[in-house]
Amino acid sequence: MTQDELKRKTAEAAIEYIKGVSIVGVGTGSTVNHFIDCLAENKSAIEGAVSSSEMTTERLKKLGIPVLDLNATGKLDVYVDGADEINPHKQLIKGGGGVLTREKIVAAASDKFICIADESKKVDVLGKFPLPIEVIPMAQSYVAREMVKLGGQPELRAGFTSDNGNPIIDVHNMDIINPLELEKTIKNIAGVVTVGIFAIHPADVVLIATEDEIITM
Ligand code: 5RP
Repeated sequence: MTQDELKRKTAEAAIEYIKGVSIVGVGTGSTVNHFIDCLAENKSAIEGAVSSSEMTTERLKKLGIPVLDLNATGKLDVYVDGADEINPHKQLIKGGGGVLTREKIVAAASDKFICIADESKKVDVLGKFPLPIEVIPMAQSYVAREMVKLGGQPELRAGFTSDNGNPIIDVHNMDIINPLELEKTIKNIAGVVTVGIFAIHPADVVLIATEDEIITM
């Protein structure tokens, strides 16, 4: 099976979790794109979706799924999204696509976060994937210097601006032994909008697609 086929497989498995749910929170990325396609096949069963990015909004609308405003929907039952890395505690690195802030908002506003991924995303320790941090533009250099103090090697994501109009710094070579503490520490640096560690609110369920099965964590 190709990696893309594994992504489709985990996306299909997530459909089980939206049975009886009328408004679904939808993440962003190539795995989630498969989920949106599956959702479109079941669209008569839902009222609509809350989107985490412009890219997801475009795909949802193209497939005829109404996109709703989180301020109008209130709390969501379920949020479905991918990840860049997943540790055994269901803590994640996200933000490879640069939409970590909106993803964290929709995840926080949902009762259950279902994370879908192929097996390449499983790690013992987070940090091999460069850690994305969305920053206020004037704080870019300051936050980068603070990340050096924390042992990382920051790199500005060239030519990229988030949906919120901000730059992203990718921090290389972080050995994230204590994701919870590091998430709190980075969040507290002035100028940080969002850090791509999801440990304060980890995933509730992780569905990992392998060649033979879906592993539910
Ligand atoms: C976007 C994300 C994505 O969930 C993450 O990058 C995984 O993407 P893909 O499913 O394409 O591997 O956090 O900001």
